[in-house]
Amino acid sequence: SENIYILGIESSCDDTGASVLCNGKVLSNCIAGQAIHEAYGGVVPELASRAHQQNIVPVVQQALEKAQITKEQLSAIAFTQGPGLMGSLLVGTSFAKSLAFGLQIPLISVNHMQAHILAHFIDEESQSKPKFPFLALTISGGHTQIVRVDNYFDMTVIGETIDDAVGEAFDKSGKILGLGYPAGPEIDRRAKLGNPKAFQFTKPKVEGLNFSFSGLKTGILYFVQKEIKKNPEFINENLNDICASIQYTIIGILIDKLKKASKETDIKHIAIGGGVSANSGIREALKLGEQKFGWTTYVPKFEFTTDNAAMIAIVGYLKYLKEDFTFQNVMASSRLKL
Ligand code: KG4
Ligand code: ZN
Repeated sequence: SENIYILGIESSCDDTGASVLCNGKVLSNCIAGQAIHEAYGGVVPELASRAHQQNIVPVVQQALEKAQITKEQLSAIAFTQGPGLMGSLLVGTSFAKSLAFGLQIPLISVNHMQAHILAHFIDEESQSKPKFPFLALTISGGHTQIVRVDNYFDMTVIGETIDDAVGEAFDKSGKILGLGYPAGPEIDRRAKLGNPKAFQFTKPKVEGLNFSFSGLKTGILYFVQKEIKKNPEFINENLNDICASIQYTIIGILIDKLKKASKETDIKHIAIGGGVSANSGIREALKLGEQKFGWTTYVPKFEFTTDNAAMIAIVGYLKYLKEDFTFQNVMASSRLKL
């Protein structure tokens, strides 16, 4: 049978991604980050949109070159319709529409959150695919959800954050401590050198399977301010212990809800996705869950967990197989639901 080549385009936040898959296997997965936001301690939507406009043509070109195919060989183009920043989504959406129109090939719209989950189905030898039904924990700078996944396109959100995302909890805590943006990786690195029980932070009380992280951030701020009054060098002298304690608290919150979700649904297969799944503490906690609760856990390759276009292309491929195409009048949707 004929090879199916899908071009995936991702532009929901601050990374411009383009990837080519052949029958679900990655031929290329290119990304242009935007260092500009580091100076502002967070993503600036206007700057993100402009950078996408500058990056999108070269990144797509690079993805095609790396895959060693021409655009005429493409079977379809998949793009992130939402959720995300409107100005960013518009760039990828308009580009995908124009290219598909020019090439006269199908256009496929992709939900970014669905893509974080279906990234587990990218055809990779190093990656085992979750068995249905499974629970997906998507944790990043923009999202925190527990999703029940009964099939590729049969997903139900059973828990989500009511305020900040877990990545924001890492980044905002880091900001309080004077760390650079994004602070998640540095907190992780320092946590390994510190005592996770050195300081106690109160966990939020949230109904059911939902999460809340804004109270934790405030708690950390007040705690640090109080300690600095007693000892101006408090942060410097205790940075590793503070990081370890923050990370321990955040992971505790995540694991508590996962345990609850697993019990309520009687599902023991758990897949994670999103940038925070790089965190060494969450990985260890999941491994422990395998021993303690009989879970089977799935952690995708790092390049498929952070925002990337291969995850958009795999959803494109799965939709292509069922001829689930979209039309030229499709619009970007910043609050697109799962
Ligand atoms: O998925 P991602 O690259 O972009 C989106 O937000 O969609 O996730 C970025 C987030 C940031 O908040 C960053 O601090 C966090 O993931 N992160 C980490 C680690 N690596 C990245 N958080 C904790 N530990 C890490 N090792
Ligand atoms: Zn994302």
